[in-house]
Amino acid sequence: MLSCACLLLLAASALAHMDESFLDSHWEQWKMTHRREYNGLDEEAIRRAVWEKNMRMIAAHNEEAALGMHSYEMGMNHLGDMTSDEVVEKMTGLLIPMNRNFTVEPEDKLVHIPKSIDYRKKNMVTSVKNQGACGSCWAFSSAGALEGQLAKKTGQLMDLSPQNLVDCVTENDGCGGGYMTNAFGYVRDNGGIDSEDAYPYVGENQPCRYNMSGMAAQCKGYKEIPEGSEHALAVALYKVGPVSVGIDAALSSFQFYQKGIYYDPQCNKDDINHAVLAVGYGMNSKGKKFWIIKNSWSEDWGNKGYILMARNRGNACGIANLASYPVM
Ligand SMILES: *[C@@H]1O[C@H](CO)[C@@H](O)[C@H](O)[C@H]1NC(C)=O
Ligand SMILES: *[C@@H]1O[C@H](CO)[C@@H](O)[C@H](O)[C@H]1NC(C)=O
Repeated sequence: MLSCACLLLLAASALAHMDESFLDSHWEQWKMTHRREYNGLDEEAIRRAVWEKNMRMIAAHNEEAALGMHSYEMGMNHLGDMTSDEVVEKMTGLLIPMNRNFTVEPEDKLVHIPKSIDYRKKNMVTSVKNQGACGSCWAFSSAGALEGQLAKKTGQLMDLSPQNLVDCVTENDGCGGGYMTNAFGYVRDNGGIDSEDAYPYVGENQPCRYNMSGMAAQCKGYKEIPEGSEHALAVALYKVGPVSVGIDAALSSFQFYQKGIYYDPQCNKDDINHAVLAVGYGMNSKGKKFWIIKNSWSEDWGNKGYILMARNRGNACGIANLASYPVM
């Protein structure tokens, strides 16, 4: 009871105390923390206004969360001076293909799955990366799924090269966006993908410079999960490993997610714009189910780079609509 009352007081005071001097000092602190420099006072004024709006929205959300109205909390982060439209434009990049083949077997419907899985605990997930201002989410999602299969097959956990995919997957558009199965198809046809060490990330389109001597993994192809089936996604996680998924990441609630189980009724399963990696699933102490999702917006975003997203709650954010994994 005490800690609950304290939380309420804290949240309430956060909003009440958002006067000019509070905001001024926090703005200076935020700029310093995130090393922001602006071109003149006009640009700073615009960015400050965006940041201030975000600060108020976060405080208001957390007040409601403390009252039990939301299953997750939000927090200011390095995306604080950007609108959600700008985040989608600069930091997502999932392009949905015209035709898809759902190749996961229907028998999987009958598979009994364990209550929880977390591939981070099985040493099958590399560190959280930062795609930067490049629409390469699809490349990080693909590399992550390949890293999982490589670790499962060889026991060796190693960063694979998203830049290799950005530069060389001709069916995709590099920093302009792409889709994961095109990346898996490229790795199959190319005979491999370089390691991150051999082909480091720069976050810009470059000419393809794949070098076989840096090759670290291969794959035989890929499988796609029947559209919208959260059960099939869970089965794939259980049987295979980390799975590439697409989600709607366009809401500011996603931009500033910090902890808890993310569920925003406005999240649109028909507007999927961002690729991420599902690395497990589970259930909290209140019986609420979640997916464990690895993003590529650095460890400063979300919960050390991760988000728990609502599971079996009507395919929230379209989590099971564009799911696929490589076959190694
Ligand atoms: C789907 O599978 C068929 C038969 O294997 C293949 O010809 C076609 O190119 C595939 N489509 C896509 C989008 O991968
Ligand atoms: C490929 O990598 C090897 C070893 O680092 C290097 O000797 C070779 O010049 C590279 N080839 C190309 C085409 O860059």
